Amino acid sequence: MLLSRKHMEASNTFFLVYIEVIILLSLLNFQGLNWCGLTSPVVRGNDTDQEALLQFKAKITGDQLKVMTSWNNTIHFCQWRGVTCGRKHRRVTKLELQFLKLSGSLSPYVGNLSFLKELNLEENSFYNEIPQELGHLKRVETLDLANNSISGEIPSNLSACSKLAVLDLRGNQLTGEIPASLGLLSNLKYLSFYNNSLRGSIPPSLGNLSSLEVLALTINGLTGIIPENLGQLANLSYFLVAGNSISGIVPAALFNLSNIRVFDIGENKIRGTIHSNFATTMPYVEVFSIWGNHISGQIPVSLFNASNLNDLQLYDNRLRGNVPSLEKLDKLSRILLATNHLGHGREGDLNFLCTLVNSTKLELVYIDGNNFGGNFLNALEIFLAHFCI
Ligand SMILES: *[C@@H]1O[C@H](CO)[C@@H](O)[C@H](O)[C@H]1NC(C)=O
Ligand SMILES: *[C@@H]1O[C@H](CO)[C@@H](O)[C@H](O)[C@H]1NC(C)=O
Ligand SMILES: *[C@@H]1O[C@H](CO)[C@@H](O)[C@H](O)[C@H]1NC(C)=O
Ligand SMILES: *[C@@H]1O[C@H](CO)[C@@H](O)[C@H](O)[C@H]1NC(C)=O
Ligand SMILES: *[C@@H]1O[C@H](CO)[C@@H](O)[C@H](O)[C@H]1NC(C)=O
Ligand SMILES: *[C@@H]1O[C@H](CO)[C@@H](O)[C@H](O)[C@H]1NC(C)=O
Ligand SMILES: *[C@@H]1O[C@H](CO)[C@@H](O)[C@H](O)[C@H]1NC(C)=O
Ligand SMILES: *[C@@H]1O[C@H](CO)[C@@H](O)[C@H](O)[C@H]1NC(C)=O
Ligand SMILES: *[C@@H]1O[C@H](CO)[C@@H](O)[C@H](O)[C@H]1NC(C)=O
Ligand SMILES: *[C@@H]1O[C@H](CO)[C@@H](O)[C@H](O)[C@H]1NC(C)=O
Ligand SMILES: *[C@@H]1O[C@H](CO)[C@@H](O)[C@H](O)[C@H]1NC(C)=O
Repeated sequence: MLLSRKHMEASNTFFLVYIEVIILLSLLNFQGLNWCGLTSPVVRGNDTDQEALLQFKAKITGDQLKVMTSWNNTIHFCQWRGVTCGRKHRRVTKLELQFLKLSGSLSPYVGNLSFLKELNLEENSFYNEIPQELGHLKRVETLDLANNSISGEIPSNLSACSKLAVLDLRGNQLTGEIPASLGLLSNLKYLSFYNNSLRGSIPPSLGNLSSLEVLALTINGLTGIIPENLGQLANLSYFLVAGNSISGIVPAALFNLSNIRVFDIGENKIRGTIHSNFATTMPYVEVFSIWGNHISGQIPVSLFNASNLNDLQLYDNRLRGNVPSLEKLDKLSRILLATNHLGHGREGDLNFLCTLVNSTKLELVYIDGNNFGGNFLNALEIFLAHFCI
């Protein structure tokens, strides 16, 4: 009830404003109308786009490939290199200038390209900060600034880009914390801050990114724990947080993410055990990497069923006990178990190696620094064919 009344009031207000506009317009002559731009807002729109592009160009300080020389007024800006416009409205929908050796800072005017769907400046030398004004891009779906030299913090205002599906800021020098507000980007599928200098902990709000498929936070200075909420990300396929200083345990809910292909928490300070059912709850897992942590307990026998696994990196942990049979893992190419407490110093500890005879893809086995008895193999790299046949 309340809702519909409010709605009616809103319509009334609209009606009154509309009347006022009509009266106002009737006081103006036709020339005035044109001058106001009220009859064709398109004119103002495309001028704004042109101005934004010229301001973008003005901030480019290096252009060895002379990309920006095409950005001149002998041709319409929709024909400028890297610019795509909508066919009807002639507004800029894409700005794609990747791999062009451009350097400069990113003009805040880019935030005025209000029809922009894609901004791709990957692999150039853009520096300085990402302007908060990019938060005005209500239609932007892809924001790719990967492999530049961008510094400063991730603008919290990006949370207003509600259509954003791809946010790729990997390979820059971003500092500060991951803004919790990014948890509002409900259409986000791909989030990469790989190889930056981010601090602080992973905000629990990221557990609200229900469309997320790729979360890549590898190589940063992140601390704190892995938030339990990330276990809600049912579509997550890539969970990559290696090379940080994350502590605590892996929340059990994370091992329940049935779409995981790549699970990489290597080189952190994570404790706890490998969830006993992980190979059943993550049936598609191809890469399972937990190396360089403080993980203890046994390697679960359910590993037997991880038939899609091609890369198993468990080295540099505190694992003990037997290595289970690997006979069904015929896609395995790397199995790195070194520097743990595996085996019992007995003959037969290495029997698991013989369960690998049918793993024709195998390239690297790395098992030294354990308690394996029997014919102890001290090599870093063992090519299975040399000893198991
Ligand atoms: C803006 O649009 C108008 C009408 O479509 C067109 O005449 C004009 O050339 C355009 N201006 C620019 C700068 O694109
Ligand atoms: C303007 O752009 C056109 C089209 O790319 C190019 O051929 C021309 O050389 C440019 N003019 C100048 C003065 O750079
Ligand atoms: C565009 O953006 C700049 C900087 O963010 C702002 O100063 C300017 O007023 C905006 N509007 C237009 C129409 O260019
Ligand atoms: C950032 O977002 C806040 C809140 O929506 C807004 O008030 C502010 O103007 C935005 N900043 C810029 C530079 O757009
Ligand atoms: C980004 O840079 C890294 C390291 O410099 C390089 O390995 C990688 O291929 C680059 N990525 C792309 C997509 O260009
Ligand atoms: C990380 O980025 C730096 C430049 O910021 C680059 O030199 C380095 O190769 C990158 N490392 C990786 C592993 O991509
Ligand atoms: C996730 O979204 C819900 C609903 O919008 C909100 O109530 C909750 O606070 C959010 N969680 C976090 C951790 O931000
Ligand atoms: C998860 O993925 C499925 C299959 O691709 C898709 O149908 C579904 O909409 C996705 N869920 C969300 C919340 O994006
Ligand atoms: C994992 O999933 C199973 C079955 O779907 C469920 O019973 C269990 O409670 C889940 N565990 C966690 C920690 O989410
Ligand atoms: C492998 O999966 C099968 C079928 O789900 C199950 O019966 C069996 O117990 C599993 N084996 C191990 C070692 O977990
Ligand atoms: C390897 O494959 C052969 C032929 O399919 C089979 O007889 C044998 O049991 C397999 N060995 C192991 C350890 O899986």
